[in-house]
Amino acid sequence: MTKLIQTGAEAEIYQDKNNILKKRVEKSYRIKEIDEKIRKYRTRHEAKILEKLSKVIAVPKVIKVDEDKKEITMEFIEGLKLSENFEKINFEKTAIEIGKTIGKMHDQDIIHGDLTTSNMLLYKNKVFFIDFGLSYHSHKIEDKAVDLHVLKQALEAKHYKISEILITIILKNYNAKQCKEILEKLKKVEARGRYKDKY
Ligand SMILES: Nc1ncnc2c1ncn2[C@@H]1O[C@H](COP(=O)(O)OP(=O)(O)O)[C@@H](O)[C@H]1O
Ligand SMILES: [Mg+2]
Repeated sequence: MTKLIQTGAEAEIYQDKNNILKKRVEKSYRIKEIDEKIRKYRTRHEAKILEKLSKVIAVPKVIKVDEDKKEITMEFIEGLKLSENFEKINFEKTAIEIGKTIGKMHDQDIIHGDLTTSNMLLYKNKVFFIDFGLSYHSHKIEDKAVDLHVLKQALEAKHYKISEILITIILKNYNAKQCKEILEKLKKVEARGRYKDKY
């Protein structure tokens, strides 16, 4: 039996036994033809990124893509959503895993675009990354630094009791090829953020 498990800003998520169906629904505030194109493009794009990354990091396997219906069928990861469980688990070990995973993803020149713990599932000691709807290709140091910055901010907001230790471990284990330059850039991105807040 198919059941609706989540309605997000962009998509409806259905579960049917071991499968997840992510369906991008119509947005009436967009012009119909443009809305069609956006949803079709994002469906195809997310499936492609998932397929590419499946060779490098833990992501759900794509089972079927239907661009006309704007649907991706993928493997259901029966794991814990990190946003709801990070404080309850062995978070040091999980943070190591997150740092390494982001490094591998960035070495493929893929920027996630929405790195939050709602988009990470812990299953059998592996952290599965999901939700590549906002992801894109880039080799730029700055884009990778901003990806990390988004995660830092999400951790500070959502997991403030353990965020400091989490961030330290994640960045220590972030072993992307250009990690030194990217971490330097991250400091600059943060300084810029602080400046903006102040003035
Ligand atoms: N493959 C999957 N396995 C298990 N749960 C999933 C899977 N894909 C999505 N979900 C669940 O559905 C939620 C929303 O999916 P997501 O792809 O993040 O869409 P949205 O763009 O609406 O955030 C996730 O936070 C997760 O709880
Ligand atoms: Mg999401």
